[in-house]
Amino acid sequence: MKIMGKATARPSLALVKYWGKQSVRENTPATGSLALTLDGLVTTTTVEEAEDDRIVLNGRVGNPAPYKTFLDEIRDQLGLGGRFFSIVSDNSFPTAAGLASSSSGFAALTGALAAFAGARLTPKELSRLARKGSGSATRSIWGGFTVYEAGAKEAYQEHDEDFWPEFRVLAAVVSDKPKPEGSRNAMEASRLTSPYYGEWVRTSPDLLKKARKALDRRDLATLGPLVRQSYLRMFATMFTSDPPLIYWQEESLALVRTLEDLRREGLEAFETMDAGPQVKIFCLEKDLDTLKTELEKRCNRSGNLNFLVSRPGAGLQTERLEIQP
Ligand code: PMV
Repeated sequence: MKIMGKATARPSLALVKYWGKQSVRENTPATGSLALTLDGLVTTTTVEEAEDDRIVLNGRVGNPAPYKTFLDEIRDQLGLGGRFFSIVSDNSFPTAAGLASSSSGFAALTGALAAFAGARLTPKELSRLARKGSGSATRSIWGGFTVYEAGAKEAYQEHDEDFWPEFRVLAAVVSDKPKPEGSRNAMEASRLTSPYYGEWVRTSPDLLKKARKALDRRDLATLGPLVRQSYLRMFATMFTSDPPLIYWQEESLALVRTLEDLRREGLEAFETMDAGPQVKIFCLEKDLDTLKTELEKRCNRSGNLNFLVSRPGAGLQTERLEIQP
């Protein structure tokens, strides 16, 4: 009989960002984050025992070396030491392009290995394990809205996925090419070289506190500008790193400016960005069609932009499959 572990997880999009480590060794964040798990984008991962670690990502054989430290740590924690895995992972969206695929990817891998091991772990324990893969994966274990506090080893759920059913995220995919620099190295470069990094860390708790309150009240008009402050302050540390980190593309800035125009015209839609050129815009369901139509008209004459719609989504789901030969 063959045992397989299977898991699905969804990306965690931060409204208030974490950027920079408090402890590199423990992989804990320097700034607390408030995030949303997206239902429209799914990572599905299966693991089964093999002679060596192997990884197939979106149908392509990948290099398992970057995952080794994480896999060794998880094997250790799950009592799987000395065993190797064939990992197959598929994303329903562009990988490594700033759509938070590392969050869903490491959360799904953690879940699939735990399912394989038959370990009955709580979400808190899974969140702790996933953290070793990527900071945002710590949050992807939960659905809905999550909080991951500065220096913490796990995230928690603030509100479940039914808390704000009208909330929508429209991800404008500017480019589906992998980003030039992974976030782990990039945030370390910001920490070590940006003169603004200290201020970023110092001012983050206040933003987080205000954003949590606005979210509690489902107050988009207050939440939106706070979310913009968070990503723009984060980018300020990137732009001022040495060498500078510039993830934006012309289309990204065009979207940011168009959203300013649309807000002036009365539309309630606010953007955020991560370590990549994509622009993720949030609004209420009633405004989604207008938002999409206006962005298509004003920013997508070339037809190069793709739009993906999400609402608050579910957390990690796992399954242990016993396959008869
Ligand atoms: O998940 P990591 O460690 O690759 O870092 C992600 C950082 C941002 O996506 C830019 C912000 C966040 O809080 O998700």
